[in-house]
Amino acid sequence: MILLILLSLAGLADSIYLTYEHFNEVIPPCTVNAFLPILSDCGKVLTSPYSVMFGIPLAVAGILHYGFLSSLLIATFFSRRKVIKYMIILQSIIGAVSSLYFMYIQFGVIGSFCIYCTLSALVSFIIVSLVYIYLKRERFQLHTLIYAFIYQNILKPVLFLFDPEFIHNTMVSRGKLLATTPLMKLVGSKLIFKDKSLRQKTAGIYFENPIGLAAGFDYNADLTQALYYLDFGFQSVGTITNSSYAGNPYPRLGRLPKSRSLMVNKGFKNKGATAISEKLKNLKFLIPVGVSIGVTNSSEIKTVDMAVKDIVSAFRIFEKSGVKNSYYELNISCPNLVNVKNLTLYSPKNLDAVLKAVGRLRIKKPVFVKMPIEKTNREISLMLSVIAKYKFVKGIIIGNLQKNKKDHNLVQSEVRKFKVGYFSGKPCEERSNELIGLAYKKHKDRFVIIGCGGVFTGKDAYKKIKLGASLIQMITGMIYEGPQVISQINLELIELLKRDNFKNIKEAVGTES
Ligand SMILES: Cc1cc2nc3c(=O)[nH]c(=O)nc-3n(C[C@H](O)[C@H](O)[C@H](O)COP(=O)(O)O)c2cc1C
Repeated sequence: MILLILLSLAGLADSIYLTYEHFNEVIPPCTVNAFLPILSDCGKVLTSPYSVMFGIPLAVAGILHYGFLSSLLIATFFSRRKVIKYMIILQSIIGAVSSLYFMYIQFGVIGSFCIYCTLSALVSFIIVSLVYIYLKRERFQLHTLIYAFIYQNILKPVLFLFDPEFIHNTMVSRGKLLATTPLMKLVGSKLIFKDKSLRQKTAGIYFENPIGLAAGFDYNADLTQALYYLDFGFQSVGTITNSSYAGNPYPRLGRLPKSRSLMVNKGFKNKGATAISEKLKNLKFLIPVGVSIGVTNSSEIKTVDMAVKDIVSAFRIFEKSGVKNSYYELNISCPNLVNVKNLTLYSPKNLDAVLKAVGRLRIKKPVFVKMPIEKTNREISLMLSVIAKYKFVKGIIIGNLQKNKKDHNLVQSEVRKFKVGYFSGKPCEERSNELIGLAYKKHKDRFVIIGCGGVFTGKDAYKKIKLGASLIQMITGMIYEGPQVISQINLELIELLKRDNFKNIKEAVGTES
């Protein structure tokens, strides 16, 4: 900052000198004239019509620019307000762009240059380069704020006019297409912010940051080449089932904006394990990918035994396929399986049966179990005790949708619009947090906990981390806040960790349990 202040004060001094000479109608000495008499002629430049714009001498504009910039830079010593740093970035860009234009006027139009103006331009270029380096995080924050503004004020109002499932499908197909173009890299260059405080190796997997896409958004694994560019640290595909399923009867998706929630009634709509594993088997992933597996939503599955065999079969297909996924999710908690409603896989006995059968496959990749949140603490504790026996289960995801339609975070007038389905987003948050705390207290390091439900901001994610989650998953926050929110959450997490003197996210896990 000191260097930046000195540079902007040098620019200010230069501008004051030129203003003084301008109003006294004196041409400053141009020592380079002796060596470059043709090229360098301060008089020609400073008396040209271009030295005044809109009635204001450029030298005076220089004083205003450098004076303002110096004040902003000095203000950073007295205030931590981010807006000051954002203004420094914008002002330094304005200075550099204007300088570029004035250099063009000197060389391209007047055909001569003034060393004082060139010096000012040089100072502007150095300042913008240093700001680019020193205020890297703030620069990224500014990008995300601009994206958020566009999403909230232009895109979302338009998107929310259309049917949610149509928009979801369109976004997935466009995202898949975009990933093959340079535009995606451009988007990524403005959003991907890497920082060692967010990096961790957990469950044997290396994560660049802790924010992942939860199961249910990328059912057919179309976005594995795209999500890295939105600053996701990992993603889940599916839930995928042994046989394909066309989806529950409509409506399958609905918006509850006042509740910050979505009504979900998809029931594992997906193309099936064989088709999806075929699609993925030759792909390299940019971030860790988890394959979420559940029971096929078919009325042909009539017993728990059949459900277990069906799940095992889907795991087997992926294990044999050579897909380079980093982990699996075993989803035993989907509340929308209309055709296998009566097969409750989360009762301790049935859960034990599923885990025993999957365990026999001797899967090397870590498996995470996706937990329900509507069960009582006692029921969840029993489930965790069963799961803890199985070494191949490295973690748990807490948790799935909110089944309680009376949850106080749900606005009842919105709930009444839907006869089917269950709820994501903010109505999941409280219970998800309670259960993360419970699981961490009871089992400490036995499970890697992925916290999921109602994460919209960095603070929401941090809360889950301090309760015991090592990783975070989300969907609904992204739909309401915009795709830049992942980057915003990561940037906020870096600040929160720094504020609390944690060098790495691992140090923060469970500190509030
Ligand atoms: C549209 C949609 C579809 C979902 N489908 C699945 C699914 O197939 N498998 C699953 O484990 N969870 C599914 N979920 C639940 C989410 O993975 C997540 O647990 C829940 O939405 C809470 O997170 P959120 O508040 O960040 O959305 C779905 C959620 C949404 C919004």
